[in-house]
Amino acid sequence: MSIQQLYNTKDTSIPTLQFPELLFVEDKLQIVLSKADGLIQQTCVGFLQSGGKRIRPLLTLYSGMCFAPLNPPMIQTAVAAELIHMASLIHDDVIDESATRRGKPTVNSLYGNHAAILTGDYLFAEAFNILSTHQLLSSMTYLVEAIQAMCEGEVNQANEQFSSSISLQHYFQRITKKTGKLLAACCQSGAYLAGASSEELLTQLREYGLNIGYAYQITDDILDISGNADSLGKPVGTDLLNGNLTLPFLYLMDNPIYGKCLTEIIKTRKVTRQGLQSIQEALVSSGCIAQAYATATECICKAKASLAKIPGSPYRTTLVDLADSILLRTT
Ligand code: IPE
Ligand code: IPE
Ligand code: MG
Ligand code: MG
Repeated sequence: MSIQQLYNTKDTSIPTLQFPELLFVEDKLQIVLSKADGLIQQTCVGFLQSGGKRIRPLLTLYSGMCFAPLNPPMIQTAVAAELIHMASLIHDDVIDESATRRGKPTVNSLYGNHAAILTGDYLFAEAFNILSTHQLLSSMTYLVEAIQAMCEGEVNQANEQFSSSISLQHYFQRITKKTGKLLAACCQSGAYLAGASSEELLTQLREYGLNIGYAYQITDDILDISGNADSLGKPVGTDLLNGNLTLPFLYLMDNPIYGKCLTEIIKTRKVTRQGLQSIQEALVSSGCIAQAYATATECICKAKASLAKIPGSPYRTTLVDLADSILLRTT
């Protein structure tokens, strides 16, 4: 499988064949989560084995390997980053009341919100256990900032639900916090742990992570409209049903033909399945989905430009390819 197909396949196995370094991360994840007790072990190991693209560990390792051979701190930070991501998804499914994730029933739907919240908390704590045991203070600093941003992003999103006055600026602030900062923290930590020689190089890796984070969330938001629930492994249409106005909706709001209709639906908070379907059709025919893809493409271009001063290597090439593959993803 080529990297371009990585996010475009129904195969939910972890991409360790293309990225053998991920095997170290998988091993450690399995070990740390297997030592949990009772229900927490069941929920954590079950979620770990349900798949996932492992983009955060991949970014941590490959950002590092642009500057030095793989080392244990990079692996430990990659594991912590994936644990933090897992926790945020389990909590996000409680907030969004989602029933499926990675093609399987969510922790909240199987065991209730109580168990889901505690499982997420356990995963956060395990991430900090690893970072403190190995005294990875800089990774901890970057990741703490990202977790706090994620919380603020989710709160902002909740406050902005069904609001028809969201600006593009609000949307970008939200996705910076929800998604961008964690990806940026992964890239920056990897580079730092590999001894990247200057502040400028660290900033460039951070910018790369932030911009692919924007594109990652924009494509996720597009897939929630035009994607397929089976290949995504999670429900579609939930953003509008929950009143979360993502980029394609913001573009449609300005459309002379459909804008009024969308504003009306949002104001009345009455989103029926039929209404959802007509809005989805309008998003495609008006070109708003294409416009959102164009915005994601701009972010990918910026991300790749940030890599220009990084020394050339197969790892940098992989980061470039990884950026391009985000625009093709269907999962
Ligand atoms: C989903 O993340 C949530 C977003 C930030 C868009 P991923 O799409 O990386 O989730 P998994 O780990 O591959 O399931
Ligand atoms: C990303 O937002 C959630 C986190 C950053 C935790 P979404 O709510 O769009 O993610 P999905 O679509 O449920 O994966
Ligand atoms: Mg969600
Ligand atoms: Mg989503």
